[in-house]
Amino acid sequence: MLIRTHTCGELRDTHVGQTVNLSGWVNAYRDHGNLIFIDLRDRYGLTQLVFDPEDANEAGAANTGDKHAHTGMMGDADKLRNEDCIAVRGVVRIRRGGENPKLPTGKVEIVVQQLDVLSKTDNPPFLPDDNSTLPNEEIRLKHRYLDLRRPSMQKVLGTRSKAMQVIRNYFAGENRFLEVETPILYKSTPEGAREFLVPCRNMPGTFYALPQSPQLFKQILMMSGCDRYMQICRCFRDEDPRADRQPEFSQVDLEMSFVRRDQITEMMEGFVRRFWKEMCGYEVPTIQRMSYRDAMEDYGIDRPDTRYDLKIKDISTFAARTEFGVFKSVLEKGQDRPRFNSKRGVVKAMRVPGGADKLTRKITDGYSSLAQRFGAGGVAVVKVIKAEDGSPKLDTGIAKFLEPLKADFIREVGAQIGDTVLFVADTYAIATKAIGELRQQVARDMGMIPKPGAEGGPWNFLWVLDFPMFEKNKETGKWIAMHHPFTAPRDDQRDLFVNADVNDDDTLESIVSAGYDIVLNGSEIAGGSVRIHDRAVQAKVFQLLGLSPEQAKEKFSFLLEALSYGAPPHAGIAFGLDRLIMHICGTDNIRDVIAFPKTQIGADLMTRAPSKATDAQLKDLHVASTWVEKPS
Ligand code: AMO
Repeated sequence: MLIRTHTCGELRDTHVGQTVNLSGWVNAYRDHGNLIFIDLRDRYGLTQLVFDPEDANEAGAANTGDKHAHTGMMGDADKLRNEDCIAVRGVVRIRRGGENPKLPTGKVEIVVQQLDVLSKTDNPPFLPDDNSTLPNEEIRLKHRYLDLRRPSMQKVLGTRSKAMQVIRNYFAGENRFLEVETPILYKSTPEGAREFLVPCRNMPGTFYALPQSPQLFKQILMMSGCDRYMQICRCFRDEDPRADRQPEFSQVDLEMSFVRRDQITEMMEGFVRRFWKEMCGYEVPTIQRMSYRDAMEDYGIDRPDTRYDLKIKDISTFAARTEFGVFKSVLEKGQDRPRFNSKRGVVKAMRVPGGADKLTRKITDGYSSLAQRFGAGGVAVVKVIKAEDGSPKLDTGIAKFLEPLKADFIREVGAQIGDTVLFVADTYAIATKAIGELRQQVARDMGMIPKPGAEGGPWNFLWVLDFPMFEKNKETGKWIAMHHPFTAPRDDQRDLFVNADVNDDDTLESIVSAGYDIVLNGSEIAGGSVRIHDRAVQAKVFQLLGLSPEQAKEKFSFLLEALSYGAPPHAGIAFGLDRLIMHICGTDNIRDVIAFPKTQIGADLMTRAPSKATDAQLKDLHVASTWVEKPS
């Protein structure tokens, strides 16, 4: 086999006259009768090869003196097809057919003297060509080795690899974080998602769980004196995949001892700045901070996309004065302060500047269906148009109910001529969720979301802070930790927390935690918190979450014990590595940035995982399947 001397992205006019060896795949093949051109591709680029018997013989003569070998070589060349894997030896010359300015190697071509066909291809299901129409994602995932040959996919893999270097340099290099690997065969922990279980052959009837994150190990590492920990780790969550969610994904997992919240946010902000600077030369400005409460009030979501200026306003007091039946019935149970568990009602409004023209009846009807998906009755609409005398006039939808209070309404929502105002009236939880989702749809319909530039930006970073400690699980009605049960209450909430009772919904809902997220353009790229380092506080959280002392001991005795032997104050965070790469690469599909991703139902189409276990395997593991095959 010819061993390459150069890559396909390397040769320039300075190499003219040199004999070189290249290896790669046939990317394009052009047969001009007695002349064959091939674009040879590898990870580094493309180089044009010319199979020209005359020139090859001349060039070859100078090098080997063997004229006859090359005629046979031309014979092989005309059998080559796209995606054959080959190696060639040849001489670099200036392109006879003129320069290709689009390629870094576009000034030169290789006159081939020797061809080694390393591996012939069968007829490929598609060509890994970014410029041609690709088949659907299923076919690309099934033949991922072909899909990954595409230059754009190679670029993503390169970006990912560089990202990991930048991460290690910043944390393990400059800031002396210790890189520690934690177990993959782990124990069930309540971090929110469903877990993947692995039966243990040696202890029949017992199971490991794959880690949702190394949360407790990193905390234990702080209690072990590690001081600063980092890991680029795999996490496993048996949830339905979404555009930005995979059942198996990577985190940049971090923990620090002897720090307050501000020190950890400063360290992480430094990382974000370094990461964007090194990955794409972008200077991240100081990251703005927003409380969870404000995020929910103004944007209806805990990860607001602040690239566009659409805000939500609670107009319940004003709405109670109108004669609109829906508002009246929602509010008759009494208005309420923002509380997620309240059965009482609120009316939320969103002013859409310029919406009167763009948001047609068909579009706003669609908004009602969208709001209904989140439990609301619908969306009320009013347009602010120009009256003949030039003053604002309320039009369509619920205009007639607002008309008597027009001046107050306009003042209340800050409406201007040309706007549409949308309303959702319901319980606080439903109205907030529905209008938050609506806000994102409206931004898309209004063309308010900036298109990513060449490097994926613009980027709006945001810290969201002061999350509640607890929320109520809608299905079970039980209190659960909003982040995870190891998150500390904010310092000033300690008394409230210590005195809280499991039946006191109002207090439980109001306790603020020391948790924080980093949000980028409406996507959560990192989440973390100051942790509990006091055994009594941790035991109290377990109690409030409904775990009996026995259950807490059964599940977490190792943590409670470790907390008893001098646990340092500590705090941490985890970045979603795949999401970081998605932003850098400007894609909203997480599968585009993972070499071997899973589909929407968690399948790996290439290896066909998951697959059935044999009876012998199940017997060995002491596991029986209850699944009954449905007749097809
Ligand atoms: P959390 O669950 O918020 O926190 O996860 C941290 C970050 O990981 C990313 N992420 C995901 N990425 C892809 N697919 C998924 N299914 C997925 N789930 C989460 C997100 C998220 O912000 N142990 C805590 C961290 C801590 O407290 O230090 C944890 O895992 O970007």
